[in-house]
Amino acid sequence: MTAWREGPIALLGADGMLGRQWQLFFSSTPGARVASLTYPTIDFERDESLSRVLDGAPRLVINCAAYTNVDQAESEPDKADRINAAAVGTLARLCRERDITLVHYSTDYVFDGQGTAPYAVDDPTNPANIYGRTKLRGEQLLQASGCDHLLIRTSWLYAPWAKNFVRTIAAAAKGKPELRVVNDQRGHPTSTASLVDITARLLDRNLRGTFHATDDGGGDQGCTWFDFATAIAAYANPSCRVLPCSTAEFPRPAARPAYSVLDLRKTIAAIGPLKPWREALAEVLPRLEP
Ligand SMILES: NC(=O)c1ccc[n+]([C@@H]2O[C@H](COP(=O)([O-])OP(=O)(O)OC[C@H]3O[C@@H](n4cnc5c(N)ncnc54)[C@H](OP(=O)(O)O)[C@@H]3O)[C@@H](O)[C@H]2O)c1
Repeated sequence: MTAWREGPIALLGADGMLGRQWQLFFSSTPGARVASLTYPTIDFERDESLSRVLDGAPRLVINCAAYTNVDQAESEPDKADRINAAAVGTLARLCRERDITLVHYSTDYVFDGQGTAPYAVDDPTNPANIYGRTKLRGEQLLQASGCDHLLIRTSWLYAPWAKNFVRTIAAAAKGKPELRVVNDQRGHPTSTASLVDITARLLDRNLRGTFHATDDGGGDQGCTWFDFATAIAAYANPSCRVLPCSTAEFPRPAARPAYSVLDLRKTIAAIGPLKPWREALAEVLPRLEP
């Protein structure tokens, strides 16, 4: 069932890292009626901008807008909450009132990272930082709204564009003889291309509810940022040495979960295998924007 691709669709946060990937997706979907909306036409701190957009009668809203600066959220908790939680609640209510399906993204940071086995969709949440708390409240408001929705948690997102770990490490590896990268945080990297593909496959099957969507690989242990950086630097500049270090050596304002591998079994059972992260990375590295 691919009728959803034709729209009308409202793509919110269309110029963000994930939003740009969705724009590419629709540019190769002939005849798709998609309104790509960006700040300040839509402003998650102004409810009326949301209702105006939804009065344009989309059948599906894909929400890629969010407050995503994890460290800054520690000093701007109210703003992060307005954008990641209150506005999501408003958006969900407006969608329910208009029978619109809402696709929304959340994060591995809703879990506290104290686990040692992949987090299943229904495992208890307990965010370790403000960003995670606001994203969790957004999830809860969405679920409580009664709106027809697909809620997708992802992690360690990157693309050939925008500010992300892959571009940062690739650039640093080109300019430095060695890099130190934390080796005590585990997770799953996710290419935006994979995330859009997984979302589309879930929508094709008309699935609703909560799913985890990341690249796969590494079994229950996923990989560390050090493993990930090593693979990036090997491509960008093989003579750059990547050295492991600990989180404690690089204190940051927001606590990071030590273990945040998301359990993908529900998603794989629904749509089939997911791409290994090394394969997804190999497709993105040659396409990195300077
Ligand atoms: N990046 C990750 O590693 C990661 C990991 C897990 C989950 N996620 C989730 O994945 C989704 C997509 O993330 P992303 O990395 O693509 O984010 P992003 O690149 O930061 O894009 C977020 C978008 O939201 C917009 N925005 C910010 N404040 C807004 C406001 N008040 N009103 C309207 N729009 C506003 C931004 O516009 P401006 O650029 O103009 O500010 C930007 O277009 C988010 O839900 C995020 O929480 C991301």
